[in-house]
Amino acid sequence: MKKTDVIRAILGDRLHHSPQLPAATAFAATNIALCKYWGKRDQELNLPVTSSLSISLGKKGANTTLRMIEADENVVVLNGVTQDSFSNFNKKLRDYLLLYGSHHFHIEAESNIPIAAGLASSACGFAALVKALNQLFDWQCDSRELSILARLGSGSASRSIWPGFVEWHAGVRADGMDSYGEMLPLVWPDLCIGLVILSDKEKPISSRVAMQRTVETSLLYKMWPEKVKEDLVAIKEALHTQDFQLLGKTAESNALAMHATMLSAWPPVNYCLPETVAMMHKIWQLRGEGLHIYFTQDAGPNLKLLFLEKDMGTVRMQFPEMEIVRPFSSSVL
Ligand code: PMV
Repeated sequence: MKKTDVIRAILGDRLHHSPQLPAATAFAATNIALCKYWGKRDQELNLPVTSSLSISLGKKGANTTLRMIEADENVVVLNGVTQDSFSNFNKKLRDYLLLYGSHHFHIEAESNIPIAAGLASSACGFAALVKALNQLFDWQCDSRELSILARLGSGSASRSIWPGFVEWHAGVRADGMDSYGEMLPLVWPDLCIGLVILSDKEKPISSRVAMQRTVETSLLYKMWPEKVKEDLVAIKEALHTQDFQLLGKTAESNALAMHATMLSAWPPVNYCLPETVAMMHKIWQLRGEGLHIYFTQDAGPNLKLLFLEKDMGTVRMQFPEMEIVRPFSSSVL
């Protein structure tokens, strides 16, 4: 099954709508998985082997403005800078937009997170783009349909359609119509996420390539679905009972297990820099001293810290450079 088959199945005749507005703007928050998505059961449709669960980061994300233009190619402006038409970023967008027809667009994206630094910039990028397309062409898609369309751009984008805690159901269908993100009706107002940027350089290997290599060559990957099954149960319990230590422990262990599958792939994939490892040791030491602080890590060297508002002062003192987000008050501190 092709991406265009899924798009046709969702949009039907609406695929032939012309723009109903001169321009459309939409925002999507970036998300950080507490239980990771790692490995696809279908590469074309970005269908995952397992379900995953994330937290969307309030106002941290992408704001995208879209208008159709009469031109031979798209014009892509990212944070005020017009992108080279051969750039990776431009190519990804072009390939995705071509799925909807041969129109060209002026796309202006403002992102307040470092691109490609393992902070899920493609997740919020595709989610914002799909929301803007939905408005521009007046498709009137619901969130489930938007989540499926965003997934075709990048798997984790399926979760960025929503704020708050989001579960992306793996689904079992070959067409992926049961593989979408869904918001959990839960809030945790004093939950804080710290963004520690150790490097904002583009990662040496894309998550797409690393994921596939892991699925194909890592012996440890065989245990990954089992690990996710347990962790999803634990995380949901932690969210329901607001058991922060259970949440932190499970999210940290889940991220480390994901990286263990990559280290045991061949050729091995290691997203850690020496600074990443040093910071893990610092966190473990602080935890040993009684501070309730945990980390998670995605396909990049940066760590994201999890802690509660009551510990904000101590955490700030230990990590003065860190940006702190409180997802449920939508404020960047
Ligand atoms: O959606 P992708 O292809 O960028 O993959 C994201 C993979 C991780 O960030 C490592 C995990 C996750 O669930 O977000």
